[in-house]
Amino acid sequence: MATARRRKIVAGNWKMNKTVPEALALVRDLRAQVASLGDTVEVVVAPPFVALQPLHVALEGAPLALAGQNCHWESSGAFTGEISAPMLAELGCAYVIVGHSERRQLFGDTDAQVNKRAKAVRAAGMTPIICVGETLAEREADQTLAVVERQVRGALEGFEAKDVASFVLAYEPVWAIGTGRNATAAQAQEVHAAIRGLVERLYDGETAGRVRIQYGGSVKADNAAELLGQPDVDGALVGGASLKAGDFAAIVKAAT
Ligand code: 13P
Repeated sequence: MATARRRKIVAGNWKMNKTVPEALALVRDLRAQVASLGDTVEVVVAPPFVALQPLHVALEGAPLALAGQNCHWESSGAFTGEISAPMLAELGCAYVIVGHSERRQLFGDTDAQVNKRAKAVRAAGMTPIICVGETLAEREADQTLAVVERQVRGALEGFEAKDVASFVLAYEPVWAIGTGRNATAAQAQEVHAAIRGLVERLYDGETAGRVRIQYGGSVKADNAAELLGQPDVDGALVGGASLKAGDFAAIVKAAT
């Protein structure tokens, strides 16, 4: 596999948290705290949809990228309550999270739908952050690598190497999300290496060397450095700890 220098990427998935005024206050704080870190690490925030436009305005010129938390696969039409990828692109989103386990578990997202969403994101000129991860029952049944492989294959169906090289994959074990029980660095590294190996088999070494793989699931300031120190961990997708500027900034610092 070609060795590539991958720029670390730390993203905050705010989920259904923060009103618009709270969102503005949080990024104001965050911007000040990450200003001195230069561009050694890419920092992304994924607020609720309603905060995207105000944050787009507030973040002009700031080294903070915006992400959507999900999108529909059609670009417009009679899909009440849905948001399309071109709409997110217009609001300055560089990334869109697709296939988060909460979408899969609570809203029935399938691998095929995750693939369609990722295609819409790409077609709108943005980069998908494609989430995969096993449940506790699947880990205990020794199914982790099989489940993650199925999810990655499904999400990447029909994409070419040049697309995938620019993508972000996020390994988020479901049992680690919001539980305070993060995967150990060794557990994360094992799955990340398996995902990279799969990308090499599906595409080539160059693509596998370039695709970035984030870890998510109870990432905090005190475990970030160890997780991010693993050779195949290229960043973090942070939930709870991204809701406080100081906590999130500490994780970003751990990535530098
Ligand atoms: P927590 O960091 O709260 O465990 O959430 C992780 C997550 O789901 C990020 O997408």
